[in-house]
Amino acid sequence: MSKSRLVIVSLAGVFVALQFVPVERSNPPVSGDVAAPPPVDAILRRSCYDCHSNETRWPWYAKVAPVSWLVARDVNHGREHLNFSEWAPLPAGKKRHKLKEVWEEVEEGEMPLAIYLFMHGDAKVAPDELGAIHDWALGAGQDAVDREEEGERGG
Ligand code: HEC
Repeated sequence: MSKSRLVIVSLAGVFVALQFVPVERSNPPVSGDVAAPPPVDAILRRSCYDCHSNETRWPWYAKVAPVSWLVARDVNHGREHLNFSEWAPLPAGKKRHKLKEVWEEVEEGEMPLAIYLFMHGDAKVAPDELGAIHDWALGAGQDAVDREEEGERGG
């Protein structure tokens, strides 16, 4: 075998071997969805749920190492920081804080992550959608937390 052929065959072998490294790629049950109003819910599902919920739509390239590792890392990391599927049990103070962060991240254009937009151009939050996120994250969403808290106090 020529040297270059050997290199190609070895690389192919490594690529195949990589596919056997286990990757955590699960969608655990949805235990308490954030249940945002429909227009906001639609934006969150389109732009955020792949990394911030248990309803991730795993793309085909998420099955091929080493890309699969990067995708799984973003999803697991994203869920750790903010999981809209496990929202209900969070303490009220945490919900208020996370809602504010949602607005900050979207306003600054930090979220969705740039690498995600590369493959999901339509996930970008459009300028005419910013108002809906703003009004929910700093308004209606905060009011909903207030009401929940009052309900728990029996008031
Ligand atoms: C490709 C995956 C991905 C997508 C899509 C995505 N995020 Fe994130 N998000 C992450 C990761 C990973 C982190 C944690 C690390 C970081 O801040 O970069 C994060 C962090 C955050 C945080 C900070 C939470 C904290 O505790 O600091 C907020 C808020 C957030 N994202 C909101 C959103 C919103 C809103 C959307 C949709 C408009 C969105 N993200 C879309 C992956 C994603």
